[in-house]
Amino acid sequence: MDDVSVRNATAADVDDLLELWSRAGENASRPDDRPDLVHALVEHDPEAVLLAELDGRVVATIIGGWDGWRANLYRLAVDPACRGQGLGRRMVELAEERLRRLGAERVCAMVLDDNEEGRGLWRACGYAPQDDWSRWVKQAR
Ligand SMILES: CC(C)(COP(=O)(O)OP(=O)(O)OC[C@H]1O[C@@H](n2cnc3c(N)ncnc32)[C@H](O)[C@@H]1OP(=O)(O)O)[C@@H](O)C(=O)NCCC(=O)NCCS
Repeated sequence: MDDVSVRNATAADVDDLLELWSRAGENASRPDDRPDLVHALVEHDPEAVLLAELDGRVVATIIGGWDGWRANLYRLAVDPACRGQGLGRRMVELAEERLRRLGAERVCAMVLDDNEEGRGLWRACGYAPQDDWSRWVKQAR
């Protein structure tokens, strides 16, 4: 993974992000991705989306969301061909670095209970499920 470079995603990367997420993301139990929403995120916070590139292809992503109060990680995804080589951990650590710089004291990740590979990654990176909380949701529109 020495040839992989990591940078902030821009509006020009939106199609490539959506393509990676469609085949490598945790895609169950969440709203469908829409290009206009990803454009809005990149415009709202140009440093929120990190992507990793190898030979001009997007091979990993993570979103580090900071709202001035809490820090949340989303959309950690690594191309299946690049897994098991430390790239997922590297993306998490880079996103954490930025969130810490912004003031975060704790970082949260959304993980589906039956996502064994996701759970393995987050545990390896020092995260643990919080048993006394569950997520309550309501459609906003
Ligand atoms: C989960 C995912 C991001 C891991 O990416 P990766 O690049 O293979 O992970 P890494 O090689 O950096 O592994 C980092 C650590 O996670 C652990 N890990 C990774 N995949 C694992 C798996 N399938 N089972 C158990 N542990 C795993 C590794 O043991 C490693 O530990 P170490 O650093 O102490 O050796 C990747 O499998 C993926 O994109 N999955 C589909 C999307 C997804 O589920 N994302 C998470 C959303 S919650």
